Amino acid sequence: MEVKPIAEKDKGMGPLSGVKNIIAVIAGKGGVGKSTVAANLAIALSKTGNKVGILDADIMGPSVPIMFGVEGQQPGVIDREGKTLMVPLENHGVKILSLGFFVQPNQALMWRGSMINKAFNQLMNDSEWGNLDFLVIDMPPGTGDIQLTLAQSYNIRGTVLVTTPQKIATADVRRAAMMYRQDKLTIPLLGLVENMSYFTPEEYPDKKYYIFGKGATDELAKELNIPILGRIPIGEKIVESGDGGTPIILNENDKTGAIFIEIAQKVQDEINKL
Ligand SMILES: Nc1ncnc2c1ncn2[C@@H]1O[C@H](COP(=O)(O)OP(=O)(O)OP(=O)(O)O)[C@@H](O)[C@H]1O
Ligand SMILES: [Mg+2]
Repeated sequence: MEVKPIAEKDKGMGPLSGVKNIIAVIAGKGGVGKSTVAANLAIALSKTGNKVGILDADIMGPSVPIMFGVEGQQPGVIDREGKTLMVPLENHGVKILSLGFFVQPNQALMWRGSMINKAFNQLMNDSEWGNLDFLVIDMPPGTGDIQLTLAQSYNIRGTVLVTTPQKIATADVRRAAMMYRQDKLTIPLLGLVENMSYFTPEEYPDKKYYIFGKGATDELAKELNIPILGRIPIGEKIVESGDGGTPIILNENDKTGAIFIEIAQKVQDEINKL
């Protein structure tokens, strides 16, 4: 497939003109914690004084509505200059839209690429995002046509790559990273988040057990010449909080929140360097 970067004249135009930075959260493999990172990063950016939206572009596993506790709700609509616009839902200080609002989970497999693109474009262009400092996109895993189309249709400021420490996960994220670095499509890779990095038992808060190994993420970061933005420990509270609609960053007694705040800060630092 031919790769076309967004035309210079189209940058910053259109309905998304109020959105300063589109950040795509990507991964090579499914289930590595992309949605968890996207949700916590979005809230972290909001907590540090930014106007933030999150868009769930993962039709196979739209988990953002669950993580934001808005599952089952539908976005509103308004008329603006003869055009019907979707109004994002809002929770935890973040505006939310999801491909999951369009499709029943058991129908997702029947959606063709062109339908997904159309629905995605609607979420991007025909929605009342308003002025945002950051629009975080939870991208579907992998490097298929959909990912490529999305990447070349929008002015993405940068990507955040999510991986787990296993070699098999870093190999997949390497492929995803290369897709965003193809010849003409040079979307900056802002850095890597290593999820499920280590385990710290509650009774031994100073210990770190590297259950999934150590070193593969560092190797990849070196190879791609990008920073590691942060390492997230394994924890059942991360699962419970995500499933319960209040991502871990909202739990002030848990140390993981501070890690996400630091990741949000580093994302902004990396953008400022571009
Ligand atoms: N650091 C962590 N510790 C423990 N569990 C985690 C951690 N990060 C994510 N999980 C859990 O792993 C599962 C997968 O996470 P998540 O949905 O964020 O991954 P994903 O990459 O978006 O997956 P998919 O490819 O299905 O969209 C979820 O149940 C989540 O709660
Ligand atoms: Mg997901």
